[in-house]
Amino acid sequence: MARRREIPTEESPKVNFSKEAVKEALIIFKYLKPYRGIFITALVFIALSSGTTMAFPYLLKRLIDSAHGPLTGPLAFSPGGIALTMIGVLALQMTFSFLRIYLFTYVGENAVADMRKEIYQRLIVMPIDFFGQRRVGELSSRITADISQIQDAVTTVLAEILRGLLTLIIGIGCILYVSPQMTLLMLSVIPVIIVIALLFSKRIRKLSKEAQDQLADSGTVVQETLQGISNVKAFANEWYEINRYDRSITSMVKLAIRNGKLRGFFVSFLMFSVFGAIVLVVWYGAGLMQRGVLSFGDLTEFVIYTAFVGGTMAGFAELYSQLQKTLGATQRVRELLKESVENVSLSKHYIDNQFKLHGNVSIDQIGFSYPSRKNMEVLKDISIEAKAGQQIAIVGPSGAGKSTIVSLLLRFYDVDKGKISFDGIDANEIPLSQLRSQMALVPQDILLFGGTIYENIAYGKPDATREEVLAAAKQANAYDFISSFPEGFETIVGERGIKLSGGQRQRVAIARAILKDPVILLLDEATSALDSESEALVQDALTNLMRNRTSFVIAHRLSTIRNADKIVVMEDGRVKESGTHYELIDIEDGLYRSLNKLQMFKE
Ligand SMILES: Nc1ncnc2c1ncn2[C@@H]1O[C@H](COP(=O)(O)OP(=O)(O)OP(=O)(O)O)[C@@H](O)[C@H]1O
Ligand SMILES: [Mg+2]
Repeated sequence: MARRREIPTEESPKVNFSKEAVKEALIIFKYLKPYRGIFITALVFIALSSGTTMAFPYLLKRLIDSAHGPLTGPLAFSPGGIALTMIGVLALQMTFSFLRIYLFTYVGENAVADMRKEIYQRLIVMPIDFFGQRRVGELSSRITADISQIQDAVTTVLAEILRGLLTLIIGIGCILYVSPQMTLLMLSVIPVIIVIALLFSKRIRKLSKEAQDQLADSGTVVQETLQGISNVKAFANEWYEINRYDRSITSMVKLAIRNGKLRGFFVSFLMFSVFGAIVLVVWYGAGLMQRGVLSFGDLTEFVIYTAFVGGTMAGFAELYSQLQKTLGATQRVRELLKESVENVSLSKHYIDNQFKLHGNVSIDQIGFSYPSRKNMEVLKDISIEAKAGQQIAIVGPSGAGKSTIVSLLLRFYDVDKGKISFDGIDANEIPLSQLRSQMALVPQDILLFGGTIYENIAYGKPDATREEVLAAAKQANAYDFISSFPEGFETIVGERGIKLSGGQRQRVAIARAILKDPVILLLDEATSALDSESEALVQDALTNLMRNRTSFVIAHRLSTIRNADKIVVMEDGRVKESGTHYELIDIEDGLYRSLNKLQMFKE
């Protein structure tokens, strides 16, 4: 099982408000575009709801001042009139807030759903190599977390920032109007806040990133352990895994608490400065009132606006960290969208006449190394010729490169040297989906999907009728064992097919391939997990299946490929020998001959 390892830093980049990061974040607007009408309406409602909120302190002041005698100027109503106006404003404010939240949620949810769909679409068309170089569990949890972060940003952070900015502008305007001196006194707290923010924010950011990574790390521990649960149990290593998880969680908690302490300091300093400033201002205002420069209503209005402004400023600290997280998230999403993808068709495809294959396959002097291990040549100068309908067997020791040939035929990877062609057409010129839909693979490590047996077979041809599916199961000699289950074809196979035996899984995979009815069949050790009796049965099915189509059969048990039209013996990435069984068996000191002898001896 994979051991705990460092989370590569590239996965959680430290994000500053650099030009590029902000530019990448603008990708969000691409998804908002289809909803821009509603989005703009929502913005208008934000402005309206902030406006009505900000009218409140003013009305309050008028209400208070009306106690001292009739008012002059705008809204010169009786106290009852002003109170009624305030209720009216409240009702308006209620409506605006409702619409703002509703519309923002509508736009946010829709835009993020589009984003999710696009990312999934991109992910699923990534080449095999992309998945080979990453841990899929981490990839999917990262994406979930990143998209939720972006969703938060669209539905709340953006709205909060706009509301905050409006509140600041209107609020500062109003307090300036009431008393410029007091405003300046009030604003003198801003430099103090900035200094505190600078002191704290960097460390908070660092700690919260560490805590996040540590959390992801403990998630990986759980995932790996549960995936390999039978290993854990077989080795009686439950205690070991528990300790591993404990350690991981404990260090996350430590980090999170340290971060909480820091945030606590930060927030309390912030509160202290903001409210300290308010005390200072009220004290100063009280002096002005004593001298009759300021009315009681003015002072109340000023204090309430100041509280709005101060609260908004304090809120910006939180918004700032949210924005930073969002920048990180959009950056990772962007990186994903930038990866090069396979050129496969994204809708149901039909085969063009031009690319309808007959099954002639020519592998011509290919050389190949896996992208992740560039300096290790896995295949060296391999040539294999298959005429339509022929059965080609590939044999050889473990690690010789047999499965790699199958991957290359499916074009999971591009060859480095030489070329592969089908019916004389260079493989690179056949659209990928069209090529792959004419082949079927029964892989070495069979992996079923979590659904029912029926769904797993039908995967070979999603629009197959029930009769076709049952017929395929019969041909693969799977029908009997499936019918013997209480739920028959509706039996859930369990995650990755664990509720079936190895041989049963293999027969389901063979049925799937039969249903697909391919021109070219690729069998990688298709009968390896079968006992001699089922092997004979499946071998029958396979012989039927292989008739009239080109097949590449990888086998360890040589008895199963004796009748092949051609046997290719590979060793260490090269073709050692090739010919029919009788030709190969005649070669003195031949590899095939010696392998054959060894196996005869065993059986
Ligand atoms: N995805 C991969 N990335 C890097 N190297 C790989 C990858 N898959 C296989 N290899 C390497 O390529 C070589 C050939 O592997 P391959 O799976 O083709 O062998 P094989 O002949 O099918 O063996 P077996 O009989 O055990 O299935 C091996 O040395 C293997 O380590
Ligand atoms: Mg193999």
